[in-house]
Amino acid sequence: MIKIKENQPAKTLQAAPFDVELGRELLDSYGSPLYVYQGDRLRETIRRISGAVPYPHTQFHFACVTNGNVALLQVFQQAGWGLHANTPGDIYLGLQAGFAPGKIVYTGSNLSREDMQQVLGWGVRTFNLDSVAQLKLFCDVCGAEVGGDAGTVREIPPSPPLKRGGEERGDAGEVRLGLRLNLPEITGDSRIGVRPEEFPAAIAIAKSVGLKLSGLHFYRGTGTNATQAFTQVIDAVIATAQQLPDWEYLDFGGGFGYPYHAGGVAFDWELFGAELAQKLTAVGGEIELVIEPGRAAIAGCATLLARAVSVKWQEGKQIVGVDTSIANLAVLSVHGGYREIVTLQPTEGELAQPPHPTDVCGNTTYSRDYLGRNCRLPALQMGDIVAILDVGAYGYAMSSHFLHRPRPAEVLLEAGGHRLIRRREDYNVLLNNQVF
Ligand SMILES: Cc1ncc(COP(=O)(O)O)c(C=O)c1O
Repeated sequence: MIKIKENQPAKTLQAAPFDVELGRELLDSYGSPLYVYQGDRLRETIRRISGAVPYPHTQFHFACVTNGNVALLQVFQQAGWGLHANTPGDIYLGLQAGFAPGKIVYTGSNLSREDMQQVLGWGVRTFNLDSVAQLKLFCDVCGAEVGGDAGTVREIPPSPPLKRGGEERGDAGEVRLGLRLNLPEITGDSRIGVRPEEFPAAIAIAKSVGLKLSGLHFYRGTGTNATQAFTQVIDAVIATAQQLPDWEYLDFGGGFGYPYHAGGVAFDWELFGAELAQKLTAVGGEIELVIEPGRAAIAGCATLLARAVSVKWQEGKQIVGVDTSIANLAVLSVHGGYREIVTLQPTEGELAQPPHPTDVCGNTTYSRDYLGRNCRLPALQMGDIVAILDVGAYGYAMSSHFLHRPRPAEVLLEAGGHRLIRRREDYNVLLNNQVF
């Protein structure tokens, strides 16, 4: 039986998510380094977010840009969430996980004609577009799909079934079009979206092929912990949406933060949900609401385990080399992110020692290959297990073959056991698609 620590509402400093016996068992079974996901923690987070918005017409869609593991997407699908897609690849993974096309919302940027044809062919019907030029292209593609007859644009022939997928393909139902919002006062200096002064032209373009612009999409920007950054702009977003005569849905995006720093500011889902619900109800209560959390939904359920393969001391600082690198977890020194690092290892004696300032370094000579700097860790020995916390979002999803190391395996803890949800790569992967 696995011993997993209880979910903690407020994270305490140096809290390892599970004990050293389990850490050893996992690394012995699947090798090191290893992404480990806690199914119970993920389900609990989904449950908490789902209950935070007391507005009856709310749909949650998981933003799988943060994590495209199909087994994890299935957890969201089974919890009744839809999928939010940034790219056709997100949609492809979502369909493999069993999301019906009607439960997928696409909100992205700069699709080519072929991308649009592909996504429509997969049966996705809700599109939040990023520019008037993308809207024109989309209308053109829709027109072409039905032989240029704008009046019957809604009937798009279904494409052949996917190789695999849990549910029936959705119907080739109505296309629902929304615009991504660009309003510098609230979206800041952003390349994304359409300005309200462009709405009349956009409405006319959609109308010319028999489509309506029925949605407004707002995206705050990723990793925003301040709840007010969202609540303060609800009125302005709603007022802007009301400039669309056919307004039916509001997509309030993702961007909700996660408290990576123990004791740091945490996004207040209940406060946010209550305010948004109250304001949408005041509008008449018929508007559909889409919320598409990425990071906030999945960050806290995963840990990257690695082993110490080198320990040395320089002027009182411990320099620990581990068998993973920033290519496995790019968010750290490369993007200025922070993830708490703890050890699963300490014996009673080591726990009694004051922790030492420690740099945790990756297994390459790349100058930015630090998993953590100035961490506080006990004196480590070769082979000790280091746990990098809260790596569920933008972790594996942003890993790469930079530095030519194959990527780790991923494992899911659930129902008192563990199972592999992605195999470890071997060196063959470095030759994929090479021609020589
Ligand atoms: C439109 C949109 N929605 C949601 C997300 C997910 O963002 P987050 O992980 O910050 O919630 C992104 C991320 O890029 C996005 O572009």
